[in-house]
Amino acid sequence: MDRLKATARLMIVSDLDHTMVDHHDPENMSLLRFNALWEACYRNDSLLVFSTGRSPTLYKQLRKEKPMLTPDITIMSVGTEITYGTTMVPDDGWVGVLNQKWDRNIVTEEAGKFPELTLQSETEQRPHKVSFYVDKANAQNVTKVLSEIFAKRGLDVKIIYSGGMDLDILPQGAGKGQALAYLHKKFKTEGKLPANTLVCGDSGNDAELFSIPDVHGVMVSNAQEELLQWHAENAKDNPKVIHATERCAAGIIQAIGHFNLGPSASPRDITNLSDCESENVSASSEIVRFFMFYERWRRAEVENSELYLASVKADCDSSGILIHPSGTELSLCDAINGMRSYYGDKQGQKFRVWVDRVLSTQTGLDTWLVKFNKWELSAVNRVEEPLELDLLRRVTNRSTTTDLLYSDLGLESYSGIVSGATPSMHLTEFLEVVLENLCWQSGDDQQGCVITCIINMKKDGVSGATYMHVHETWLEGSGGAKDQSTWLF
Ligand code: GLC
Ligand code: MG
Repeated sequence: MDRLKATARLMIVSDLDHTMVDHHDPENMSLLRFNALWEACYRNDSLLVFSTGRSPTLYKQLRKEKPMLTPDITIMSVGTEITYGTTMVPDDGWVGVLNQKWDRNIVTEEAGKFPELTLQSETEQRPHKVSFYVDKANAQNVTKVLSEIFAKRGLDVKIIYSGGMDLDILPQGAGKGQALAYLHKKFKTEGKLPANTLVCGDSGNDAELFSIPDVHGVMVSNAQEELLQWHAENAKDNPKVIHATERCAAGIIQAIGHFNLGPSASPRDITNLSDCESENVSASSEIVRFFMFYERWRRAEVENSELYLASVKADCDSSGILIHPSGTELSLCDAINGMRSYYGDKQGQKFRVWVDRVLSTQTGLDTWLVKFNKWELSAVNRVEEPLELDLLRRVTNRSTTTDLLYSDLGLESYSGIVSGATPSMHLTEFLEVVLENLCWQSGDDQQGCVITCIINMKKDGVSGATYMHVHETWLEGSGGAKDQSTWLF
């Protein structure tokens, strides 16, 4: 929690599924656009908070499947678990708050009597969260009856319906909104209340976020009926809340622009990368810009021109060194020359490059030490047929929805395996989701390294950075048997 010495310029508190992460965008473009914007312009002085309904188990799984950034704070299990930093240190103070008028045994005992409720997978049952599936037709009535029963038994609980299918039972003091209010209070005590907070969501469990005082809010264009209805009834006249016209992370970027919270042009949207505005140049933005160029070079999305390589080389100190994660040492200019033969080698492939946690420290008048994680996703052809396809082939003749699929094959936890798969989803849609997930499912295709570099930022700001020294080390799980021959930087 002490990453920032001063007040955060912006704190983004975003839901994940169907808000930060678009499960209908196999290329993850809006997420990658957000990532580039955040790392180039916000990471150093702002806070990224993910607030998800997922348990720690399913949250970690999503991180393996999608090109997500590392948040500063992670709120999981619908605001019942708060953790800090990369090591995810739990906030024990928060757990204490949640025990009031809460008895998990009574909750499971009473809810278990309702045939309309189907218990979610074991991973999603948490100390302060009991979760079920229920269809839209029964949701309201079940919620009403259950609330009365719990009140009679002396509990003070909150029942939240999300995504037209999930029913969560939590202590009254829990929830995404309460967790945010708790964080705000904590920051205020430390004299570090963020200058602006933007909350982002798409479904029922996000509604509370929008009623926290002084926050800006965005309901992404694809928001669920239950959230839009809540908004119409409770926050219609609040000018600080918008319903974006863009889906998911693109809607978050839209809101940053709408509310004037800071820069809102993602480096991914800039077609001419040499065309950067000098006032926004920083060591971080230079890093993002370089790896954008690198991705486009290998995808053949920029012209195959010596001029580009020459301009990159002009940004390298003539005695600068690159230490490749394999341990090999070469001059920065040779490393750039090495790019020549890789022009377009990833053309038409699912090749993406993104950076995470780009943090810079000024070490001299013009010198910065920048440390970050760099990831590459390369889709490789699978030799073995994925398990998912085999399962589907066996059931598509018999079942038409995932409900039947689950019961046919005992795949109750299958929605946990395939992100975005939901109960009662039509099988054709399910198949689409499975296919979209395939290459992200195999972690083998994702390689990462930690990069530390020394960058000189010229005062005149004309060409921005000069790379002095670059040192790379494989991130855990990324070295070993992986194909390292095409890892250039
Ligand atoms: C996530 C959780 C699930 C919860 C839902 C809505 O999907 O995995 O347990 O019910 O969010 O909050
Ligand atoms: Mg969501």
